[in-house]
Amino acid sequence: MIVGTSGLVLNEKLLFEHSDAGRKGYSLTPLDVPAADLPDGLCREEIAGFPELSEVDVVRHFTRLSTWNYGVDSGFYPLGSCTMKYNPKVNELAARLPGLADVHPATPDHLAQGTLAMMYELQTMLAEISGFAAVSVQPAAGAHGELAGMLTVRAWHEAQGSKRRKVLIPDTAHGTNPATAALAGYEVVPIASEGVLTLEEVEAHMTDEVAALMVTNPNTLGLFETNIAAICELVHARGGLVYCDGANLNALLGIARPGDMGIDVMHFNLHKTFATPHGGGGPGSGPVGVSAALAPFLPGPRVVRDGEAFRFVGTQESVGRMLAFHGNFGIMLRAFAYIRSMGAAGLKHATEMAVLNANYVRARLEGGYHLPYATRSLHEVVFSDRDLPNDCHTLDVAKRLIDYGYHPPTIYFPLVVKGAIMIEPTETESQETLDEFCDAMLAIAKEAEMSPDLLHAAPVRTRTRRLDETAAARQPRLRWEER
Ligand SMILES: Cc1ncc(COP(=O)(O)O)c(C=O)c1O
Repeated sequence: MIVGTSGLVLNEKLLFEHSDAGRKGYSLTPLDVPAADLPDGLCREEIAGFPELSEVDVVRHFTRLSTWNYGVDSGFYPLGSCTMKYNPKVNELAARLPGLADVHPATPDHLAQGTLAMMYELQTMLAEISGFAAVSVQPAAGAHGELAGMLTVRAWHEAQGSKRRKVLIPDTAHGTNPATAALAGYEVVPIASEGVLTLEEVEAHMTDEVAALMVTNPNTLGLFETNIAAICELVHARGGLVYCDGANLNALLGIARPGDMGIDVMHFNLHKTFATPHGGGGPGSGPVGVSAALAPFLPGPRVVRDGEAFRFVGTQESVGRMLAFHGNFGIMLRAFAYIRSMGAAGLKHATEMAVLNANYVRARLEGGYHLPYATRSLHEVVFSDRDLPNDCHTLDVAKRLIDYGYHPPTIYFPLVVKGAIMIEPTETESQETLDEFCDAMLAIAKEAEMSPDLLHAAPVRTRTRRLDETAAARQPRLRWEER
């Protein structure tokens, strides 16, 4: 254990380094089968090489580490695009109810009616919220929902006998969009935006080889695609479909419905828009909503209602299963509990507050940081490091924010903004919290002028100083000792 002058534990040894031969955390009763009776493949002489520790050693190690975590329950977490919104605890409670949490995915439909009813109601509520005719809740993440949606697009085109092979993707789309289109077998055609997409740009590229336009709305600049209805009409008139990345639906909930704008397919990120921790690879859920014409092609089976009963049904035209069983049920439960506890008026209010908070941050930071797009933001706002002096850059600001006690915003994304600083405050933050954060951001902009070395060295108040993130990504050392 490394202890600093303040008595703070500066670092934590690995479990392997804590290990002491012969220590035990748990003792198994001896096998009553003689080793000779066990198949050879199950026996070995050599020791597996696991660390040897007592139970309390292990508990303390992990408890200490857990106190180092920064989470939305411990502080403001303005990670743009990831929507690190506070998750009301009532949703966690609902997700842990044993009758729902413990149900086996292979339980026959007639013994899982409550579970199926919840899934059916969620499908119905999501369809109502977004303006689509049908929803499949099967996909297990946003990007997975995108793939489900683009496979649905492909199946629809193939059913029309169409061989279209291109997908138009604006430069403000989320990075998963081109990856998804390529994975679904399409050639990606990047198109330029002017903050928002113009009708002229779409028109210039919309040939009879184009299967779909894939657009993130609001886009990754936090801007609403104001031309979307006219763009949908144009794409439809030329035989294409419009896919909407709906992961930013938390900016539209209760106010506008993508289905009403002419969108044909959209995925939701339940873990951004509704309530579930998102980030660090946590479990997600990416339901897909579609217009009536595409409904038969959705992934299945989906839950249908038969009088008072619920059951799973597949269709002949369906693109099939996106994963074993029925999706990330715990995440669906949290979203369901969130929607039910908020109600229609509550969802709308949350959207208004999310947009208000982002615009408040925008107004407060506008003088201190360069704002590349003048258009009014929705739920998130993107600044850049263009005007920072003394060779100070976005990474320095992010690292210095850690010294001020904040999780940094998303940086260097979206790619259309050089040195992007993408802030998404979310709806739950009070004015005091936003003011404290903005004060810290403005103080850092001043430091860039007065004491740039501090920014270049940051973070300086943490257990570990600035790490080489490139080396960590390119040459990860995943073993505790080289062998
Ligand atoms: C706009 C947008 N689209 C797609 C995704 C991908 O979602 P997931 O990380 O669940 O795959 C995200 C993730 O944050 C997103 O912000």
